[in-house]
Amino acid sequence: MKRIFSGVQPTGNLHLGNYLGAIRNWVRLQDEYECIFCVVDMHAITVWQDPAELRANTREVTAAMIAAGVDSERNIIFNQSQVSAHAELAWIFNCVARLGWLNRMTQFKEKAGKDRERASVGLYAYPNLMAADILAYKATHVPVGEDQKQHLELCRDIAAKFNHDFGAEVFPIVEPLIFGEATRVMSLRDGMKKMSKSDPSEASRISMTDDTDAIARKIRKAKTDPEPLPDDMAGLRERPEAANLVGIYAALNDSTVEQVLGEFGGKGFGQFKPALADLAVDKLAPIQDETRRLMAEPEFVDGILRKGAEKARDISAPIMAEVQEVVGFLRA
Ligand code: TYM
Repeated sequence: MKRIFSGVQPTGNLHLGNYLGAIRNWVRLQDEYECIFCVVDMHAITVWQDPAELRANTREVTAAMIAAGVDSERNIIFNQSQVSAHAELAWIFNCVARLGWLNRMTQFKEKAGKDRERASVGLYAYPNLMAADILAYKATHVPVGEDQKQHLELCRDIAAKFNHDFGAEVFPIVEPLIFGEATRVMSLRDGMKKMSKSDPSEASRISMTDDTDAIARKIRKAKTDPEPLPDDMAGLRERPEAANLVGIYAALNDSTVEQVLGEFGGKGFGQFKPALADLAVDKLAPIQDETRRLMAEPEFVDGILRKGAEKARDISAPIMAEVQEVVGFLRA
């Protein structure tokens, strides 16, 4: 059976990268797969989170997911900390994964920065928890943006080593699903850097809560080069900022980069940027309105998370019982 698991951290507002790289793809996959979508609050606390803000952000990210079209009736939507299987399986994976594997994780190196000694142990072990998220449900497919690819390779390694060490085919080897024209949305200030919640510059990202003016201003100020847009893909090579904006346009417009260049090739950014700003506002405004409406009903959002957590526990409980048996934990 095909089962999807994916997650998003409640560390502040979602941005356009989260939407185009992940959440919009989730909406498309929900017709085809059984889907479990998780707001990963336990991942969020690998770096300091103000407790009140964490709670508020957990609700807001849930609301934004639903507003973007993730169907809470058909899918399971819940926050990670409500299902203890994640922490339990993560501990077992801490004992399966090797230090050498985690030492290769580029995201830890980026997030920990120069002063690694001061990073939390959780930040280092984060990919093991991510593998536990997925495998606690024996999910087979994981839709993510490009930046999570390395973590999913680790998840495959952990599943294979667990199965091998215990001589049992317990876990599937997951398939990443990375697709669309915006698998890696870049910063609006630097085409070589990923759009990210942790970038100190607000102007580097379009947040899903930005109003019309903010969206238009950020796109107008986005870094570009002086050349007009090229007629074909080859002309975007060595032009990361232009490639990024064209990719964003294509993704928002449900077209391809070639089609966008067919329309805008030869035109300057003076023409392209206002068209992109209009398109972004057009596509994001309805999601923002619906997010705001849902945020005014916190009990409704909490109810979805509560029901989702119950269903998630029902799926993970027999899997955890199997894992405990295989590992040799005595259930007296
Ligand atoms: P997070 O919260 O950083 O991002 C959520 C999703 O958004 C994608 N994404 C992007 N896609 C394109 N361009 C970007 N600039 C961009 N920035 C983020 C991410 O790839 C992700 O799909 N570790 C994960 C959360 C997680 C998870 C999981 C995902 C925890 N457990 C299990 C899948 C399966 C993370 O920090 O995502």
